[in-house]
Amino acid sequence: PRLAVLASGRGSNLQCLLDAIAAGQLDARIVGVFSDKPAAAALDKVAPEQRWARSPKDFADREAFDDALADALAASQPDWILCAGYMRILGAHFVQRFNGRLINIHPSLLPLHKGLHTHAQAIAGGHAEHGASVHFVVPELDAGAVIAQARVPVLPDDSAETLAKRVLAVEHPLLLASVQLLAAGRLAERGGVVQFDGQ
Ligand code: GRF
Repeated sequence: PRLAVLASGRGSNLQCLLDAIAAGQLDARIVGVFSDKPAAAALDKVAPEQRWARSPKDFADREAFDDALADALAASQPDWILCAGYMRILGAHFVQRFNGRLINIHPSLLPLHKGLHTHAQAIAGGHAEHGASVHFVVPELDAGAVIAQARVPVLPDDSAETLAKRVLAVEHPLLLASVQLLAAGRLAERGGVVQFDGQ
């Protein structure tokens, strides 16, 4: 399968997928890395012809940026589109265009702590557990059917940074396991529920 990755920053989740592909643990190809940040380190992890990045400020509005991104994405003919460290909200029109093929990894135990600063939210909320969720993307932010979650403890002396580090460490195997199932064609979303094909 052909995987397109949307990333805005460091790209450690992307790197994990690239390593798995190189090690023969994931039967897939990264066909493109797409970013809203031309300086994103994630872009440097693939060849120049597989990079697409634009500054949203160069577009009239969100829809115009999303349309340019969508056209570039469609041209790469992806089977799955993975938001991995992508920090921009995708408009409903964009989501509908790729409905059912859009996946996101979010650093919280959804439906808890949607949006940004999830680690600070977990600490402020006094939660003993936190973690990450891989889910299908729907127009509502961080609200699609959850594919899988990974949990970590919140420790008394945790800062947002120490907690984020602990969560990131479980994000990578969580994303890889989820993408392995998607790449094998064993997962689909139907009526807001993830369907596993056990064949
Ligand atoms: C990760 O915690 C991811 O869950 C969040 O952005 C962070 C950066 O991920 N969406 P990466 O290192 O850029 O893959």
